[in-house]
Amino acid sequence: MNLILDLDTGIDDALAISYAASQDDANLLGITTAFGNVRVETATRNSLAMLELLGLTDVPVAQGADRPWGAEEKYVPSETLLQVHGRNGIGEVVLPEPQRMPETTNAVDFLIAKAREYGKDLTLVTAGPMTNLADAFKKDPEAISSIGKIVSMAGAVTVPGNVTRYAEANIINDAAAAKYVFESGLDITVVGLDVTLRTLLSGDDINAWKQPNSAIGNALAQMSDYYYANETDPDGNSVGGALHDPLAADIALHPETITYQVPMNLTLEVGSESNGRTIGNLNRLTDETTTAIVCTNVEAADFSRRFAAAILKLANRDQA
Ligand code: BDR
Ligand code: CA
Repeated sequence: MNLILDLDTGIDDALAISYAASQDDANLLGITTAFGNVRVETATRNSLAMLELLGLTDVPVAQGADRPWGAEEKYVPSETLLQVHGRNGIGEVVLPEPQRMPETTNAVDFLIAKAREYGKDLTLVTAGPMTNLADAFKKDPEAISSIGKIVSMAGAVTVPGNVTRYAEANIINDAAAAKYVFESGLDITVVGLDVTLRTLLSGDDINAWKQPNSAIGNALAQMSDYYYANETDPDGNSVGGALHDPLAADIALHPETITYQVPMNLTLEVGSESNGRTIGNLNRLTDETTTAIVCTNVEAADFSRRFAAAILKLANRDQA
């Protein structure tokens, strides 16, 4: 499967890159980056560094949005985000300075070019704010509509948010862009907190990745230890390392991971106490067609096991 990952590369994004790298059926065409967990420049650097760690030095990285729609200033991550993902976005793990530069093409033009080249044979996974996707659709709706499948880690339809009681991080980081995408008519599989909070890392899994004593295993274990200790809900309670972005990558590759899904037309509430809430679009309740598939249950234990085993395999391979 031809895959592009659109990321705000923090820890679970780095785990998603690693998971994609471990899957024989994934042909990673590139990574596009945006602000979110970190500034966009850091997301780009982390993506390049992760690809080098994984030996994927021919996978291009195209840098994208540095701020949400309508913002005058470049985005600066909140102290809470810096705590969840670390000040460098990857749990203070020090990876070698990347030897490669990002593409000279920006993320939007990269997405459009790949959509034109691969069309229905392209799968896009967004796991950061939806700014790059919104910008690309705005610029070339025909190309972006031709993409075979779009899977987005975004939102919280049946559970509370993780930034506020209502809003999930990727949505609230650019609510205007997300609303635009949901109302654009694009078909999107929505992998929100509804399902990602069911897929948690275990301390035993992380410890197993350390056993081969390889660069990949040690780096991913160290990042995951950090994330495991620092991811909290809006009330400050520990979440315990939800596999948000890896689950979106998995669902793109293996849709059978979904056990329950609700087709609906989504929108966002804006400007009220429930700002950023992903919810059914009242104006489109009677439409005959729906554009979003909201995942509400998954083979959580099975996925968490497969994920941990896939990373362990990478760690072992690196040692050999
Ligand atoms: C999402 O927000 C980001 O912090 C994570 O990388 C994930 O994509 C979880 O709400
Ligand atoms: Ca992310």
